[in-house]
Amino acid sequence: MSLERVKQRLATISNNGLLRTLRPVAEVGPRVQLGDQECLLLCSNNYLGLADHLSLKRAAAEAAFRFGTSSGASRLVSGSLPLHDALEASVANWKGTETALLFNSGYAANTGIIAALAGRGDLIFSDRLNHASIIDGALLSGAKLVRYPHNDAAALARLMEQHQTDGLRLIVSDGVFSMDGDLAPLRALVDLAAHHDALLMVDDAHGGGLLGPQGRGSAAMAGVTSGIHLQMGTFGKALGSFGAYVACSQLIKDYLVNRSRSLIFSTSLPPAVLAASLAAIELVRSAEGERRRQQLAANVALFRRQLQLAGFAVPDGVTPIVPILVGDPVVTMTFSAQLLEKGFFVQGIRPPTVPQGTSRLRCTLMANHSQDDLSAAADAIAQVGRALGVV
Ligand SMILES: Cc1ncc(COP(=O)(O)O)c(C=O)c1O
Repeated sequence: MSLERVKQRLATISNNGLLRTLRPVAEVGPRVQLGDQECLLLCSNNYLGLADHLSLKRAAAEAAFRFGTSSGASRLVSGSLPLHDALEASVANWKGTETALLFNSGYAANTGIIAALAGRGDLIFSDRLNHASIIDGALLSGAKLVRYPHNDAAALARLMEQHQTDGLRLIVSDGVFSMDGDLAPLRALVDLAAHHDALLMVDDAHGGGLLGPQGRGSAAMAGVTSGIHLQMGTFGKALGSFGAYVACSQLIKDYLVNRSRSLIFSTSLPPAVLAASLAAIELVRSAEGERRRQQLAANVALFRRQLQLAGFAVPDGVTPIVPILVGDPVVTMTFSAQLLEKGFFVQGIRPPTVPQGTSRLRCTLMANHSQDDLSAAADAIAQVGRALGVV
């Protein structure tokens, strides 16, 4: 009976055009073997192409040989390895904060941090397009969740006046929105947080390594680092590794070490991953990091312009996340399948990842895409888009 229910629920997902499946892919890009087809990968968050960089691979291999393959337990149980402490120091130095704390993934960071900071009687103000892990953290916390219209600081100001509490207030926003590639109005959020005595948390999963001087992220780019209490970021995207961090004060770190369940009750990151992340930070701060960011910026400008010229409503923007709005989930997946036939792997994104009626192709660019390949991709997108009546 219960299994029958699962079967029915899966059938409903499928009938709504929302079935998801896992596909085998042989490499990390930018050219990949997908099943029996070679194609250009346009849906990875490995933006700087660091996931197969020799420095990261060597650091990971050496750390595995020296320290082994697992950390063995939560840090609160069996202690921190030198690499945990070194990576936290490196993150804090890079982000310009007092300290930092590692988490096992961005998902674990957001759920663990938000549910630790806020609870019953508290208020969480969250951008309507924030990542699922932020929403899950807010739901887990038991605090009242107030969602404000996307990037609308004036609406947030009204909602903050309207909702009062004797408890804690937390404003939380993506720095770069993962499905739209646009930037949060960080200066306005900092002002509102200060005015209402709220904590401000920014999820910079898609800004770290890419934006601002030395890739320090969206807060550094906006010049508002000191007004943000928690800068969360991930190692699994531009940094080419795995795991996550929050750059913050010692007070916040001490509190999270005592209260964050995803930190307390989970085996910590293993040596190879820690070493790869350390190498990645060094790399993004180096001249090579700058060169890769410049290549990526040139790719982003070219690709956005070509899609605009083809008639797509693609906004100008500095991030490598380029959404092509389709609307209908079935047409979106047909669009994606037809591009794959032409050798371009662009993932279709459907609800619940994005709101109903806003299914889209989410193109993501890499520093090591060639401009010829990107031009060919833009041509193919225009051709298929016209055939499907999307443009
Ligand atoms: C904005 C945002 N936050 C958090 C996460 C989760 O990070 P991770 O993949 O490290 O769990 C993602 C990744 O999908 C993301 O896009």
